[in-house]
Amino acid sequence: MKRIAVLTSGGDAPAMNAAVRSVARSAIFRDIEVVGVRRGYEGLLEGDLIPLTKSSVGGIIHRGGTILRTARSERFRRPEGINEALQQLKRFDIDGLVVIGGDGSFRGAWELVQRGFAVVGVPATIDNDIAGTDMTIGFDTALNTVLEAVKKIRDTASSHDRLFIIEVMGREAGFLALEVAVASGAEYVLVPERSVDLPRLCDKLHYARKRGKTHSLIVLAEGVMAAHELAGQLLDTGGYDSRITVLGHIQRGGSPSAFDAVLASRMGAAALTGLVEGQTGVMAAYRRGGMELVPLSLAWEQKKELNTELLDLVEKLSI
Ligand code: F6P
Repeated sequence: MKRIAVLTSGGDAPAMNAAVRSVARSAIFRDIEVVGVRRGYEGLLEGDLIPLTKSSVGGIIHRGGTILRTARSERFRRPEGINEALQQLKRFDIDGLVVIGGDGSFRGAWELVQRGFAVVGVPATIDNDIAGTDMTIGFDTALNTVLEAVKKIRDTASSHDRLFIIEVMGREAGFLALEVAVASGAEYVLVPERSVDLPRLCDKLHYARKRGKTHSLIVLAEGVMAAHELAGQLLDTGGYDSRITVLGHIQRGGSPSAFDAVLASRMGAAALTGLVEGQTGVMAAYRRGGMELVPLSLAWEQKKELNTELLDLVEKLSI
């Protein structure tokens, strides 16, 4: 392998830069040339490639976002787009590609693999919703960002004896919501993996008040419903007045946590090794503390299970 490319695709996640740096430096270490594709598959279609050197990936490990920028490409979803991307890869003499992104990006990568091009993935999303890997890049940082926000909300909630609903990202998954609920000591958590039992939630709020609890926090995963909807339902069903906070894109930014910077460095290096050793259609996965290469297809063929033990824990510890 003489020349490889790396791109970041889909929603950005903290530590994507650390992964880009790791892929680039691991390649250069083996005397392999490396280029960065800007704006994900969209940039690939336009031939927007830049050389990456030892120094051009210097000073980025701690930076949030992605220096390569990212996009969700509609054009690349179509067969003509995929063929066009393959032509660009040929035109630039690229022998292999590392795709840093989430499940949508991996599906795109799979199309290239099916057509005989070597691709290895690095799972990166704050949602942590990719089966096959225990953790994705960016999840830990987002978790800490959300935790800081929830702690601040608790201050004001307790001062005013209020009920708060905090809506967190995660798409159709509740990993972020669940872990932040445990870490912040939130009283309730609603995740898409469990159906919402509103009368039961109202009962719990009622008994909590009877027990003398003057404020409560509900962590709501965005995949369940919007915070304003839940606020409306709580008012209609139980007469509960609440305040809402929708954390939004603040969850995607920021300097990576130490855990994420290490994870991204390990995954980037593992992906490059895999590519050099002839692996394709796989992702660098974090499993039981170690690195493994597992099929990319796990990202869409399997549903990552939520840890129900943590759901029970939120309930148990919020008495
Ligand atoms: O997948 C990451 C994520 O931040 C989700 O949690 C969220 O639902 C979505 O992306 C938001 O996407 P966009 O930035 O395109 O609005």
